[in-house]
Amino acid sequence: MYISKKLREWVDECEKLCKPENVHWCTGSEEEFKQMANIMIERGQMIKLNEQKRPNSYYAKSDPSDVARVEDRTFICSKNEIDAGPTNNWMDPVEMKKILNGLFDGCMKGRTMYVIPFSMGPLGSKIAHIGVEITDSPYVVMNMKIMTRMGEKVLDVLGDGDFVPCLHSVGYPLSPGQKDSTWPCNSTKYIVHFPEERSIWSYGSGYGGNALLGKKCFALRIASVMARDEGWMAEHMLIVGITSPEGKKKYLAAAFPSACGKTNLAMLTPTLPGWKIETVGDDIAWMKFGSDGKLHAINPEAGFFGVAPGTSEKTNPNAIASMKSNSIFTNVALTEDGDVWWEGLTDEAPAKLTDWKGNPWTPRSESPAAHPNSRFTSPASQCPTIDPRWEDPDGVPIDAILFGGRRASFVPLVNASFNWQHGTFLGVSVSSEMTAAAFGKLGQLRHDPFAMLPFCGYNMGDYFKHWLNMGIKGGDNMPGIFYVNWFRKDENGKFLWPGFGDNIRVLKWIFERLDGAENYFDSPIGRLPAEGSIDISGLNLDENALKKLFEIDKDQGINEADEIMNYLEKFSSRLPEEIKGEAIAAKERFMKN
Ligand code: OXD
Ligand code: MN
Repeated sequence: MYISKKLREWVDECEKLCKPENVHWCTGSEEEFKQMANIMIERGQMIKLNEQKRPNSYYAKSDPSDVARVEDRTFICSKNEIDAGPTNNWMDPVEMKKILNGLFDGCMKGRTMYVIPFSMGPLGSKIAHIGVEITDSPYVVMNMKIMTRMGEKVLDVLGDGDFVPCLHSVGYPLSPGQKDSTWPCNSTKYIVHFPEERSIWSYGSGYGGNALLGKKCFALRIASVMARDEGWMAEHMLIVGITSPEGKKKYLAAAFPSACGKTNLAMLTPTLPGWKIETVGDDIAWMKFGSDGKLHAINPEAGFFGVAPGTSEKTNPNAIASMKSNSIFTNVALTEDGDVWWEGLTDEAPAKLTDWKGNPWTPRSESPAAHPNSRFTSPASQCPTIDPRWEDPDGVPIDAILFGGRRASFVPLVNASFNWQHGTFLGVSVSSEMTAAAFGKLGQLRHDPFAMLPFCGYNMGDYFKHWLNMGIKGGDNMPGIFYVNWFRKDENGKFLWPGFGDNIRVLKWIFERLDGAENYFDSPIGRLPAEGSIDISGLNLDENALKKLFEIDKDQGINEADEIMNYLEKFSSRLPEEIKGEAIAAKERFMKN
């Protein structure tokens, strides 16, 4: 195992600061995964699920105060505040380091410090990058084993190369003889990024994106900064392959805000005969220009950290198959026979469960059995629809980018952008009703440009500019851009579109558009499907519903354009003129309509 001087020195520094009882360099082996599980089981922090029903799988429940990403405790500490921009929390990096050095001093007393070398992306791929996470949480070690390529093999590829240092502590030191908590964490939380230094410090939380630092912290926040500097893209996007009945294949990437169905779309089971969907990734895409001039994408992750509630054999059979074994479940409910359950898994709830707080639960209980942001962690390789090229070091060529969100009104089922610049404006204008993935008001509409609002590691105005620059660089080789909305409702609050497997009908229209079909007409919002061009064969959808799915109200269009212009003012001098121009042009198109 080769350890560079730089890595050795950083680990020594962290050890001096955090004062753990010992240091464990993670090998990434199966035995190590089991060893971590056993440590946690012994401390009452984990349960092994029924081996017959769910082989090599484990269950953990978090402290009720530590159940989601904490956006208000997430900081981008660039040297200048303006470089973090109006959408990020900022603090002076020197001030922040003082606070963190205080918090981390002795924070691992009585614990083991784990060193996790990990690769985001296939080992050795030119699109991949390496990080090293130091943590005092065996739960994090287990999750990182599923979510990334990690361990000894990464050090061999790293050699003396650069890595992103990621320091994490649950912030719960143990004094001699002190019994551990069942979910150690701290009420003080800091999720901090130093973009110029390209480093991450996370304190106080053991949950998901706060603690698995390869995911949101590195693969999105720090990587977006690297991508800006180096001319590539780090995006909150799923990646899928779509094959037509004639055997023609394209790859699509799609950005939706958290918990808006990215995992479902990534593993879609088509209801149209002959069409096939294959999964490359469900959450993050890193895209660099290939030698053919096109954007090539990799999924930097190796597993899924999916929202459990609502996932079922009906809504996403491939996710259900992916989690059959070798998985970790967090904050779901436990069945009497040592398996897991959550709302939506089966039509009827089991008669007796233990809920995510550890209390007895029956279908008459008032609170949900599983937390709305409860999760499964499962290896991507176990997904039946995994794409044959999902680990291709050159990535897959991207033909289209989709944006979307949860919008009960106004936004049509699908529209195509006029061109890259207009498509970039569509990305800027993404807004969605809030979900349980982050602390906040459920259902409230919030702007979430490119679904990157909580994940952009620099000034978002500059990020818009980066998108425009990439379009200029890629020219005609850039993917087509589309906007979809599966969530439109009628006046009675009923969804107008069946969604899930039937979304293939929308993907088919996109596929045909990419192939040059004249299947559209121009509207103020973008290119809408021409009459009859969406395949609704075999779908019991009344004419009226289809009409409503594409209705765009003139007054609401003008209001939306005004509203987005208002929102964009916050980016002041960093707002690209081109984006302002697109907003004005959109309003004019609505006014003329
Ligand atoms: C996620 C998120 O967990 O976006 O993927 O919150
Ligand atoms: Mn996500």
